[in-house]
Amino acid sequence: MTGSNTPPLPFQDEDPAHHPAADFISAALARLASGARGRRSDFHVIGIATLGADGAPRLRSVVLRSFEPHSVRLTFHTDSRSAKFAELSRDRRAAILAYDAGAKLQIRIEGQVDLHSDDADSAAVWRGLPDGARQIYRGARAPGMRAEPRVLDETIGEDEAERHFTVCRLTASMIDVLYLRAAGHRRAIGVTDGAGGLAAHWVAA
Ligand SMILES: Cc1cc2nc3c(=O)[nH]c(=O)nc-3n(C[C@H](O)[C@H](O)[C@H](O)COP(=O)(O)O)c2cc1C
Repeated sequence: MTGSNTPPLPFQDEDPAHHPAADFISAALARLASGARGRRSDFHVIGIATLGADGAPRLRSVVLRSFEPHSVRLTFHTDSRSAKFAELSRDRRAAILAYDAGAKLQIRIEGQVDLHSDDADSAAVWRGLPDGARQIYRGARAPGMRAEPRVLDETIGEDEAERHFTVCRLTASMIDVLYLRAAGHRRAIGVTDGAGGLAAHWVAA
């Protein structure tokens, strides 16, 4: 679904491959940034894959909290007691998947995640969270922990909850954009240089 303030795709009525691959990727990333702001966007919830201790992939949905297209950095929040936190502490590599069905646009990003919990960064974000969002971190049991039904709603205090609240920042190293198009799908891959530069090229879909 697309929101009313979603940036239009400049390549919708023509072959995007008539333009530089970097422009195509930038337009897709602008769309992802707007998805972070708009709760109704398909890009508001993304899949994020990590590596389990056994080497197997682990995948789950998270809310995309912010996306900065220039540095290609995105933010999501989690609980430091979760499996994904342990996995990312062991190996910072992660991959995200987003698909906007209305725009027929798939974005895949690979990069490394920095975890911020119980520090100045997480405290600043915590202060700006609405009460409902803070409640998520008040469960007495760690996410994924086996528990009897009668204890499932037990809570901890807000100070302790804040210590579990984690801001996760993923910095992209690779971006892969696929646009489904009746006249021929179009796909481009970009590699970031860490300084705002992007080397991009078209690939066969
Ligand atoms: C729509 C949706 C949004 C979600 N958003 C988040 C989120 O922002 N952060 C989070 O940690 N888990 C979120 N979850 C829950 C995760 O998908 C997952 O079930 C949970 O975090 C445990 O994952 P883990 O055991 O791999 O750490 C969301 C689930 C759904 C269905």
